[in-house]
Amino acid sequence: MREKDTNNHDQVSHYHWQYTPGRKGEVIARWVHEIAARRNEVQVELVDLKDFNLPYLGETVSEELEPRNQARHQAWSEKIDGFDAYVFVTPEYNHAPSGVLKNAIDHLYREWNNKAASFVGYGYMGGARAVEHLRLVMGELQIADVKGQVGISLTADFEDYSAFRPRPHQEDAVNTMLDQLIAWGGALQTLRTGNAGRCDQLAYK
Ligand SMILES: Cc1cc2nc3c(=O)[nH]c(=O)nc-3n(C[C@H](O)[C@H](O)[C@H](O)COP(=O)(O)O)c2cc1C
Repeated sequence: MREKDTNNHDQVSHYHWQYTPGRKGEVIARWVHEIAARRNEVQVELVDLKDFNLPYLGETVSEELEPRNQARHQAWSEKIDGFDAYVFVTPEYNHAPSGVLKNAIDHLYREWNNKAASFVGYGYMGGARAVEHLRLVMGELQIADVKGQVGISLTADFEDYSAFRPRPHQEDAVNTMLDQLIAWGGALQTLRTGNAGRCDQLAYK
């Protein structure tokens, strides 16, 4: 879905999650997407990492497979470059985000620069520790992460650990988060004009 804004703003929220069989992330990401899609100020798109099937970064493959991996990387780059803002939907694995999400993030750099981000974590403690990890990563990518976040509990927001029944306050939490994300995603457009401050190369310091 694309932006309804007529001032050439291309402000888009999108969602990532990982891809284990029976993953809970899918129903959570769709729920966030539906809430965001009801808002008029932005266009939103749901991005599923499963569709990109990215190789492990730096993975050595045969010459035959290399073009396939490059094509996947390119598709991912183009997808991410087109957005102004992101909602990362992440499970908590050993107090961190999923390796699949981290790998997808690490594939790119410039595409992330001067964008805004927010987070929906899920786990036994609402994925809070996974989100804290991601917040550390955002600084290095020059992504501005907003304060608002959503923590989905695998016990309190799921019935019998299977049917997703978010508690009523969770939708308010999503909207508060989106208010902040949309504001920052729009404000940072000025910086992105002419690619000011965006890095073509990684500069480790
Ligand atoms: C290897 C592994 C580590 C996990 N570590 C945590 C954890 O540290 N904290 C937590 O709240 N849940 C943890 N979980 C539970 C997952 O967050 C939960 O299974 C979640 O539903 C996984 O996301 P998915 O269903 O979208 O694949 C872990 C699960 C696995 C398989």
